[in-house]
Amino acid sequence: MERYRALFKHLPSPAVLLNSQNRVDDVNQAGLAALPTEAFERTFSRWLTRDLKEFRISPVPSRVIEKTYRAASGPPKFFKIRMAKIAPGKTDTGMVLILTDITERRRTLEELGRLASIVDSSDDAILSVSLSGKIMTWNRGAEKIYGFQPEDILGRSFMLLVPSGMREGARSILERAARGLSLSRHETVHRHRDGHLFPVSATFSPFDCYDAVLGVSVIARDISSRKQTEEELRSSHGQLQSLLNETVKSLSATHEKRDLYTAGHQQRVTRLACHMAEHLGLDQAQMEALRFAALLHDIGKVCIPMAILAKPARLSEEEMGIMKKHPESGGEIVRNIPFHGPVGEIIGQHHERLDGSGYPKGLSGNQILPASRILAVADTLEAMSSHRPYRPALGLKTTLEEFRSKSGITYDPDVCAALFDLVKSGTIRWRKGVLQCP
Ligand SMILES: [Fe+2]
Repeated sequence: MERYRALFKHLPSPAVLLNSQNRVDDVNQAGLAALPTEAFERTFSRWLTRDLKEFRISPVPSRVIEKTYRAASGPPKFFKIRMAKIAPGKTDTGMVLILTDITERRRTLEELGRLASIVDSSDDAILSVSLSGKIMTWNRGAEKIYGFQPEDILGRSFMLLVPSGMREGARSILERAARGLSLSRHETVHRHRDGHLFPVSATFSPFDCYDAVLGVSVIARDISSRKQTEEELRSSHGQLQSLLNETVKSLSATHEKRDLYTAGHQQRVTRLACHMAEHLGLDQAQMEALRFAALLHDIGKVCIPMAILAKPARLSEEEMGIMKKHPESGGEIVRNIPFHGPVGEIIGQHHERLDGSGYPKGLSGNQILPASRILAVADTLEAMSSHRPYRPALGLKTTLEEFRSKSGITYDPDVCAALFDLVKSGTIRWRKGVLQCP
């Protein structure tokens, strides 16, 4: 008997002896550590009254139940209680109760349940893949995105979801993740059960247990509709861009139809300016603004009377004053066209000169936009190289001398240097006295 008493006392689980009236006869050390003493004095048998009564009248010698214990303070505890009759078959028997504290396990299970419901309610596909590449778990999001039911896909290769030409890449991503390296979100293409391919944004992360990688979790989002929207935006932007291009070209051509002496001038200036801008390393956006400005730089001449515009002789001072208004008029005309760059400002400054001798505002140095400084050289170069009713074309030597002598004075020295480089390389050349630029 002493041996059993010692065994009872030192059992690692809380144990309680009840008499035939369900009163606590004895509690072992683990029991006193798990629950407060007053629990056994006042509340223990009350806590289990109904369970003990049912068990006492039942024919079974032992039973296991799960119960929640709520103390006066602190969070509730959960116990698994094994109840055994000391004298089975007698209703007035004493009992032994052995309690197992399952609070932690219950909380872990509840937490797992919460996580599982989050995973299952996600619109993203969330799946896990074993180190051998087999699909181990598959949520409802994955069913919707890939079209496979869990029973059709669990245990099968992850490569079923990858187009045949992309499997090598997918394999190396899985291998990387299996080595413990997470892969940040990247965009790729996956395969639906019916065979159609669709774009996904996916992350691959290793999951481990006791520092050993067990597999890879994959979160994939179907981005078909985002890609379609992007494509539609790109296409509509392309259409708008081409509409703007055509509108500018038509405007440019319409103006040149009126001013027959300078027909083709704006197109030639545009080609010259773009070559110089490229040589000087202007970025794509600056180049685009310069191209539009060059194509329309003399559009303001539509406001000038034909008698002045088409006069086959040098202009009087008064006529020249009217003519000098065309950069500002041009800037005004294009002001409401939604260009991305400062096209109106570039047009408005194309007759300004580095030393302040230009018009309409007499701007100087850095007050003049770089694109306008390029346009100024291209415009003068084209005008000097072309025939005018009041003078013949001036030719290579005279034209280049203009820029050599006035580089750094009226013209930007970098733009002049670019011009000389382009002449040296043959990009800009004169053939039989006519300026040529592809
Ligand atoms: Fe002009």
